[in-house]
Amino acid sequence: MSEDKKPFGGYAMPAILLVDDVAANLRVLYESLNGRNYKLLIANGGKQALEVVHKSHPDLVLLDIMMPDMDGFEVCRRLKQDPETAHIVVIFLSALDDTTDKLRGFQLGAVDYVTKPFHPEEVAARVETHCKLLSLERELARRNRQLELVRDRILNSMTEGVVGLDRNGRASFVNPAAERILGADARQILARELPDWEPEMLREAIGRILAEPGEIDHNEISLSNLALPMPDGGTRQAELRIAPICENERPRGAVLVLRDLSERHRVEARLNRTNNELNKSHRELRQAQMQLIQAAKLESVGRLAAGVAHEVKNPLAIVQLGLDYLEAALATDPVASEVRRDMLTAVSRADTVVRGLLDFSRERALELRSHAINDIVNESLKLVRHELTQRNIAVDAALAEDLPKRQFDADKLQQVFLNLFMNAMHAMQHDGRLRVTTNLTQIDGDELGPHARQCGFLGGDTVIRVVIEDSGPGIKPEDLDRLFDPYFTTKRQGEGTGLGLSVTRNIVTLHQGSIDLENRNRGGARAVLLFRKDEKQRDEA
Ligand SMILES: Nc1ncnc2c1ncn2[C@@H]1O[C@H](COP(=O)(O)OP(=O)(O)OP(=O)(O)O)[C@@H](O)[C@H]1O
Ligand SMILES: [Mg+2]
Repeated sequence: MSEDKKPFGGYAMPAILLVDDVAANLRVLYESLNGRNYKLLIANGGKQALEVVHKSHPDLVLLDIMMPDMDGFEVCRRLKQDPETAHIVVIFLSALDDTTDKLRGFQLGAVDYVTKPFHPEEVAARVETHCKLLSLERELARRNRQLELVRDRILNSMTEGVVGLDRNGRASFVNPAAERILGADARQILARELPDWEPEMLREAIGRILAEPGEIDHNEISLSNLALPMPDGGTRQAELRIAPICENERPRGAVLVLRDLSERHRVEARLNRTNNELNKSHRELRQAQMQLIQAAKLESVGRLAAGVAHEVKNPLAIVQLGLDYLEAALATDPVASEVRRDMLTAVSRADTVVRGLLDFSRERALELRSHAINDIVNESLKLVRHELTQRNIAVDAALAEDLPKRQFDADKLQQVFLNLFMNAMHAMQHDGRLRVTTNLTQIDGDELGPHARQCGFLGGDTVIRVVIEDSGPGIKPEDLDRLFDPYFTTKRQGEGTGLGLSVTRNIVTLHQGSIDLENRNRGGARAVLLFRKDEKQRDEA
């Protein structure tokens, strides 16, 4: 049997110490109890009794009163005084049949009294009763300890704080969660008296529960938003329930259950954030879906346009040739010459429209070669510089020198820059400033336009950036979303096809780049083009 399962101290059976200075008495006692499943120990005086007690730790002592070296009362007093031996059951044995003596024995902590001359059966019966009581008491204590362990385990694992209060509002137990929520350790909480509980709302609630538990609705008080003061001067939001503990309908104390709301608030905030992000993704997804639908529509419009353009191109060429031929023939007639010039202008406009349509719908293949983007920008500027000078528009180019070369289709990109320069020029009309900037930069997430994001650019990416700014009137807010739609134009009929930006975006996208158009804070518009430093970057990412 393992040690903790033995009901009696260190022995499997109760150990009983017999104490008497008369050898004959000891013998009678010994014989009364021998063979009854007890471990019997003997002492022939008070002092020896104490020695045996300390050495052998008996469970019960049959103690004679009148002994020469130290009387039984003194032995009992010493046993009860020492915490190590106070639990030993003492039964007095004496010839004295005096009520005062019996009373004294009980006062000293004895449990029973047997008078001499005693009957062996009576001694045996009393010892047996007390051993049984002892065994039951120890079993009860063991169960209590087990229950306490279970209780502690439950309380320790709870996320709610639990505090037990006695009748006077003093804490009798505290679990770790309560320590955390109340911002105080168990020692401090256990030392609190009723007036120490804060805030006042909590103190009042505890007071009410303790004073009149029967009057409380639903047998508990709940406080849903309690601001508990913290040691650092701040507060913690908590929810509290207090219920009375009653025994036989009489108040014995109360139990507080505390729940930390700051954690819940944090979780709620996190949930809200996630929800918002989800909503945003949903919106973006819808937008992307709309764009896809739009792109699909445009694809078919583009194919149709290409077909029409092809058909129209050849007759146009014939008309143009015819007009050239007629030049000489009509030279003498000024009116006819005038009509011929107007027709030539009309043909040239029709030709531009047709070429625009073809560009828009042309096979999406690039002729890539390694180029410095600044060279392409400069070439494009050269083509418009004359017209810009005539319109008194200053050109301000700040082109970074450290740009790496990259694969570009120079012709297509020139078309991009020309479209953007022409748009800027048309917006400014006369007098103004066109500013072109190129640089290699690590882009900030806040600077990314919608198209850049859609193309997968992220804050922190290293990009080649081209910015084209003008000092014109800028773009109307309601037009911002439609600029890149094919055929969207604010120009007068015949002046613009509305295909420029659409073609531009197609070409830029084919270069794995992005283009966004926005208004500048200082007035005017700004086109921002981003290209990955080297083309392969995207696949590697
Ligand atoms: N720099 C700018 N400032 C103000 N508005 C602009 C600017 N660039 C473009 N836009 C607006 O965007 C519209 C569409 O431009 P886009 O280049 O696609 O077609 P367009 O210039 O009208 O015609 P096209 O390019 O065929 O001559 C323009 O009509 C104009 O309203
Ligand atoms: Mg244009």
